[in-house]
Amino acid sequence: MEMNYIGSKRSLIDFLKKEIFDVAQIKKNETKGIWFADGFAGTGIVGKSFKSKGMNVLSNDIQYYSFVINRHYIGVNKVPKYKNLGFDPFEYFNNSKGKKGFIYNNYCVEGTKGQEYERNYFTPENAMLIDQIREDIEKWHTENRINDDEYYYLISCLLEAADKVANTAAVYGAFLKHIKKSAQNRINLVPLKIIEKDIDSKIDNSPIEEWILKSEGDILYLDPPYNHRQYATNYHMLETIAKYDNPIIYGKTGLREYSEQKSNWCSKSKVVEELEHVIKNAKFKYIFLSYNNEGIMSLDEVREVMEKYGAYKLKKQEYKRFKADNNRQNKADNTTEYLHCLIKK
Ligand SMILES: C[S@@+](CC[C@H](N)C(=O)[O-])C[C@H]1O[C@@H](n2cnc3c(N)ncnc32)[C@H](O)[C@@H]1O
Repeated sequence: MEMNYIGSKRSLIDFLKKEIFDVAQIKKNETKGIWFADGFAGTGIVGKSFKSKGMNVLSNDIQYYSFVINRHYIGVNKVPKYKNLGFDPFEYFNNSKGKKGFIYNNYCVEGTKGQEYERNYFTPENAMLIDQIREDIEKWHTENRINDDEYYYLISCLLEAADKVANTAAVYGAFLKHIKKSAQNRINLVPLKIIEKDIDSKIDNSPIEEWILKSEGDILYLDPPYNHRQYATNYHMLETIAKYDNPIIYGKTGLREYSEQKSNWCSKSKVVEELEHVIKNAKFKYIFLSYNNEGIMSLDEVREVMEKYGAYKLKKQEYKRFKADNNRQNKADNTTEYLHCLIKK
């Protein structure tokens, strides 16, 4: 996914690949059959780049929109043909008029007029188009007119397209008062890239604490949240578009209830214990953890936990800050990104 996502490893991917291939001593032409796991998959950028190298991929994230995106990037290996549907859904959607539904009724000014909170996340036209597209995708799937690959693929394309026209500064924790330029464009559904590789995969949507107990493989990559900012609140809109489950929402920004997705990795008092649980129970020989120098765990805290379970090494890379964090007090333009590496005993 191209979106600007907190903690995305898009600009660090070459560094990660190089170090992981190096520490795990993998040769470029000997990737077949290796199981690579991306435990906090987010946009899927890491998993998909190891898929591209020919490895089998396990992917997991607690957020459902991330599951959908990874189900597409990792799980779909062939370009969908929409045989049962009988027409090109992209052409159809890009000529549609839209329909009033959950997004229109709750997240655009026209639909929320006169209500306690008027919300301005999308133009009315785009809100209606999101509703129609999402409803059609669901209906086609229920009627078996599209298969699972086509279903997750189309929802992924919708998430990406909706994100491009969202009227936010960067994340969905707030909307802008006036519709910004990019949000004025009509939503444009474009076919996302498909990685055509003959690999095996398993895509999950569980808290890592549970997922780690049921998973095994060769390489485990962990990229947890670094600070107190919960992904469930920052990306609530993507969750609702992906699930389209008519949730009860509340407050100025129309948040959905998220107690099940509240992450212990965002809590200073719980995070070290969480890390230890994951490292201890991991059935993987090589474990890599991305973390930065501004995270709620210190370098030493992470090292102390990991060292207990095998041979430990630390790699570093300077990294340009995520755009949404630019205005925060005290911060430099660069952070140091750590890659903690462990060869498990
Ligand atoms: C730093 S981001 C990962 C970014 C990803 N590597 C990328 O490049 O897009 C952290 C991810 O962890 C997920 N997450 C947070 N707590 C989790 C938990 N307890 N179990 C599983 N996933 C969790 C979030 O939803 C978020 O997508």
